[in-house]
Amino acid sequence: MLAELSPALIAEVHDAAKLLASKQRICLLTGAGISAESGIPTFRDKQTGLWENHRAEDLATPEAFACDPALVWSWYQWRRQLVADKKPNPAHKALAYWQHHAKANHQQLTLITQNVDDLHEQAGSTVVHLHGNLARNRCSQCQTPYTSASNHSKDSEALDNSDVDRQDAETLITCSHCGGYIRPDIVWFGESLPVQAWQTAEEAAADCEVFISIGTSSLVYPAAGLAQLAKRNGAKVIEINPNPTPNTTVDMIIKEKAGIIMPVLVKQITGS
Ligand code: APR
Repeated sequence: MLAELSPALIAEVHDAAKLLASKQRICLLTGAGISAESGIPTFRDKQTGLWENHRAEDLATPEAFACDPALVWSWYQWRRQLVADKKPNPAHKALAYWQHHAKANHQQLTLITQNVDDLHEQAGSTVVHLHGNLARNRCSQCQTPYTSASNHSKDSEALDNSDVDRQDAETLITCSHCGGYIRPDIVWFGESLPVQAWQTAEEAAADCEVFISIGTSSLVYPAAGLAQLAKRNGAKVIEINPNPTPNTTVDMIIKEKAGIIMPVLVKQITGS
């Protein structure tokens, strides 16, 4: 695999592995870029097909849902269809392997994601979701979680995929408690992050020795502030992204796709 990398990239991965060697507390933040190689477009990619005239930033807001709930709901149904058959790529798999290896060696490796897909879980990782979960729904008024009738008998901890299966259900669903419209259980622009997830993320970032930012544009706060928090508390910051970002805290940038870098980096760190 090393043969696929340029000598400069090999040296950078080597330096990153050296920086990570013997560290006990590592915090990773992933964004849409880590799922790009699985075929899920990032947020800043221009939308295609039916949705080419809409910007994700304009649809993923409480204002957009209030103004045209059917439009926003059908965009999410389309997005659910888009991710339904997507599989973890080598970056997700390498991270899951590293997390298991770290646990066995009593190291703390906290994986935080801004993504609403479940590719980290599919790969076998334990992950903190800052921006919610595409597979879940709740009432936009009374906040009651929505579970479709066919899913009531299932384990409530399991990913509620039955709603995702309702690909053709573009019509709005209403809440049986209050009549409000059902919405995806996702954090939209301007909304607060889930309290427990954010607290876990802040603690891990503040306490880590190395913070790794993978596949995120570092544009959306508060998630983008985690690297700054880590840096202020003495951590080294590594960024893995083929494109530049406004993240000014970085000590080391590896400008390449996550699916290419992560398997090599994890192999060097774990020795397997
Ligand atoms: N490997 C690593 N990085 C990649 C790859 C790849 N294969 N492909 C693209 N990228 C990078 C892009 O260069 C970009 O910097 O991934 C980043 C994706 O940026 P965004 O689309 O802005 O995604 P993200 O940072 O996760 O967005 C944050 O914004 O829209 C909201 O809530 C939404 O969680 C999302 C948040």
